[in-house]
Amino acid sequence: MNVIGIETSCDETGVAIYNDTQGIIANHLYSQVYLHRQFGGVVPELASRDHIRRTLPMIDQVLQDAKLCSDDINAIAYTAGPGLVGALLVGASVAKSLAYAWNIPSLGIHHMEGHMLMAHLAEEAPDYPFVALLVSGGHTQLMACRKPHHYELLGDSQDDAAGEAFDKVAKMLGLPYPGGPAIAEIARNGDPERFTFPRPMTNKPGLNFSFSGLKTFTLNTVQSLEPLNEKDKADIATAFQEAVVDTIRIKCERALDQTGLDTLVIAGGVSANVELRSRLDKLARQRNCRIFCPPLSLCTDNGAMIAYAGYLRLQTGISEGLAINVRPRWPMTELN
Ligand code: KG4
Ligand code: ZN
Repeated sequence: MNVIGIETSCDETGVAIYNDTQGIIANHLYSQVYLHRQFGGVVPELASRDHIRRTLPMIDQVLQDAKLCSDDINAIAYTAGPGLVGALLVGASVAKSLAYAWNIPSLGIHHMEGHMLMAHLAEEAPDYPFVALLVSGGHTQLMACRKPHHYELLGDSQDDAAGEAFDKVAKMLGLPYPGGPAIAEIARNGDPERFTFPRPMTNKPGLNFSFSGLKTFTLNTVQSLEPLNEKDKADIATAFQEAVVDTIRIKCERALDQTGLDTLVIAGGVSANVELRSRLDKLARQRNCRIFCPPLSLCTDNGAMIAYAGYLRLQTGISEGLAINVRPRWPMTELN
């Protein structure tokens, strides 16, 4: 069985094919980062137009790579939300049209569920139940996942998501978009002793996150030092990354305590952060817990996660009609 996955929720066009015996057999990604970089962030209309240009040729490409033709495809999955409405509509329209033409089912996938399932494609897959940490450009959430497709929200971001905070702080430091990898890179040379930034919402109980105060604290530090030299930038990047990573570590520990679960799964673009992975790895070892991370290349948006999530959805027998519906806002708990 072969399932095509199409991801177009933001600024990445991803198309992949998941095969039920061989795994991901073709995977193409086109990043629009250079298109948006001059604006310092994603411009929704430009994103939609570029998805229109890329999606169909990329479907041809993955079919060629996998040496398959349309008759070999059993279902087509697409990201139905959350994300930018215009961008989502491109993937949904292409998927529905092909599903109609090829007479196969189409499946609307929740983008964050797709991210979360990536840890299942690593060499060793996690068993349910587990705590999931979802950290991306739009989400910072802790979920208790006690069985497949069933989510209990433990904590959520009250304002900026972790990835969004990385992106905004990078802009303050004059670093390119996306900010996460750029900050992580210069933080390698920073002095961790020079600044200590706050760990927001860790002094009171609870599992919610808020990174907007940390962003303002960073801005105040930047303004107090301007003009910044390269060392200032590296030291600020180190202190900021350290504060985000430590805050997430504290909340993950609390989530494991609160639920009594002993498995942690991390996913989303920020899960590519090496400091975060190593800190959570250490936490897991200290607590005798298990941690599962997606392969580094599959942390950020991609079509493979949608293809795999589509394959799993297909097994549940869920089917949908040809009406094109996308959900720019879509709580994952509504999948239950
Ligand atoms: O999951 P993703 O590709 O897209 C969304 O669903 O939002 O995540 C993108 C986010 C961006 O904010 C980016 O700056 C962040 O993930 N990111 C990172 C790293 N790589 C990507 N943040 C910190 N460290 C990284 N290495
Ligand atoms: Zn994403």
